[in-house]
This record gives sequence, structure tokens and C-alpha cells, in this order.
Amino acid sequence: MEKSGNKKIVMSGIRSTGFLHLGNYFGAIRNYVRMQDEYECYFMVADLHSLTTHPETKELKINVHRVLAENIACGLDPNQAALYCQSHVPETSELYLLLNMLAYKGELEKTTTFKDKVRLHPNNVNAGLLTYPVLQTADILLHRASLVPVGKDQEQHLEMARNFVNRFNHRYGEIFPEPYAFNFGEDLIKVPGLDGTGKMSKSENQYATIYLSDDDELIRRKIMKAKTDSGPTPTNTEKPDYIENLFLLMFLVSEKNTIEKFEADFNNCTIRYGDMKKQLAEDMVKFVSPIRERAESIRNDEQFLKRIMEQGAEKARKSAGATMELVRQAMGLNY
Ligand code: TRP
Repeated sequence: MEKSGNKKIVMSGIRSTGFLHLGNYFGAIRNYVRMQDEYECYFMVADLHSLTTHPETKELKINVHRVLAENIACGLDPNQAALYCQSHVPETSELYLLLNMLAYKGELEKTTTFKDKVRLHPNNVNAGLLTYPVLQTADILLHRASLVPVGKDQEQHLEMARNFVNRFNHRYGEIFPEPYAFNFGEDLIKVPGLDGTGKMSKSENQYATIYLSDDDELIRRKIMKAKTDSGPTPTNTEKPDYIENLFLLMFLVSEKNTIEKFEADFNNCTIRYGDMKKQLAEDMVKFVSPIRERAESIRNDEQFLKRIMEQGAEKARKSAGATMELVRQAMGLNY
């Protein structure tokens, strides 16, 4: 059952661990920003989820503030979307508990992300880790969202969410729509790393990834270190991966005529990779530095952050409260 009102509902969770990088920007955040007008959006910082793997909470507040500030600096508008913290919406935990009764140990143990985490933290295989996909399902269903902007790595969690939805609806009545992964327009853009090995991500080497918090000098240094070679030999040859990656990064941040110039230089074998990297570095600095500066100033304004978190939680709790009312009715928890 869709909620009344004519806008479809979008919900996604943002991890609070780690710094945002260019891959997050082009892969996720830019998508969120585009969805704000057209859909009723809920974007949530998954602080409770972080406890499954990060029991130490000393850095939690600073991480939550940073991730909020960075997302706002990238264009998420707290006056359009509901931007909130998971732990500020206690209905999340209530729905999570109820959904746990519909989630079986066997299927939870088979989840790829669970198995990966068991391998990574063999001494902390806690029940929260096992039921991570149930909590994620609660996040989504609280708003009866059907559209969930996430990357490929979350497909299995959404498939599980659809299973929980169908079990719930079958047992207690049609309350929830099935949630599906959703992205705006074309396929997700993959942002390659600077070391020629796959996409930009937190786990790979530090120099391969450009973070939105990197200062200008660091950005230049990272790009100048990117692998190149002595240049193409036959004209119009195919580009090796690591050169193709530099062009892909140029596509994201440089002007069309700049890209065309270097494409032509490559094809007639006159390209100078040093010049190309210098140009890319300057265009990257021009792209990243305003975001970094905005994020810094937001981060320094605790009053503002507190206010937007309260505002987001209020919107989210309104939607969550209405859903929980239906859930309690449907389950017969209304006496
Ligand atoms: N599991 C997601 C990730 O690792 C984060 C997340 C938490 C999420 N709750 C969500 C994503 C709800 C989409 C919807 O990135």
C-alpha cells in the first residue's frame, strides 16, 4: 500500500563511519540531491547501524556531524528532504523488534555482508550484526518507502527487505510496499581510483581516493602521483586502464573543450600526461574546494546542526508515527 499524497517516497541511509569521497559524491549524493524536488525524501545517518561494528562511541558525534555537514555541503537541503539521525527516531527500534520475529536465523546467517563482517571481526559477532538487514528494513518501512537509492552492494539487503515485507503483509495485512533499489536517470557512475585498480573507495590505498575534505595541495599531490606511461605509440590506439581512468575523472570535473583537447592529443600521440594531470588537478581543486569549505563552516556551527537534526527527526517521526499506528492495528497490538 502506497501512502496517500502524490509524491513517491524515497528513503536511504548514510553510513556515519569514514570520510566522504568523490565516489560517494557521484555515486550517491548527487543522486539524492536530484531526487529532492520530485519525491518525498528521507535521508538518515545510520548511527545505530554503526554500533554493530564500531562499539567504541567516542568519535560518534564528530562522525555524525561531519557526514551531515558534508551531505549538506553537496546540496542536500534539510528544508526539502527530511535529514535525520536514526537514533533520533525511536520508532525505528520498535519496528525493528517486531520485524525480528519475521526474520529467520538461517537467512540472516547467509547474508553476504554478515559473512564478510564475521571474517573481519571474528571476536565481535553480535546479534545486531546478524540482524543488520532487519534494522535496515525498519528504516525503509517506517516511511513506507518504495524507492531506495543504494549501490549494488545493498541489493541483497533489499531483497531481504522485500521478503520481510511479503511475510508481514501476508500475515497481518497489506501495510507495506515492496522496496526496490532506485537511481536517478542513467546507470550509476563509477568513479575510478587513481591507481588504475578499480573504483574509488575507502578501503583502497589512500592516494587512490580523493576525499571531499582533502586540501588543495593534497588533491594536487594525489593526482600528480597517478600512474601514467611514456605515451601512446600508434595513433588512435586504445587507452590503457589507468589512462582511461584519468579521462573518466576529467569527464566528471573538467570543461568539454579541455577533454576534447586531451582526447585529440592522445589520438595523435602528442599528449603530455604531466600537463594533463596538472589540468585535471586544477579542475578537481575547483570542484572540491567549495564543497570542503562549505562543509567546514557547517561543521563549526553546532547550533545549526542541532537545529537541522531536530527538524529532520520531527519530519521523520511524523511519518514513522503514522506507520506504527497502522502496524499496531494490523498486528492486533491495540488494546
Ligand atoms: N546499509 C547501508 C550501507 O551500508 C546503510 C543503510 C542503513 C541504508 N539503513 C538504510 C541504506 C536504509 C538504505 C536504506 O550503505
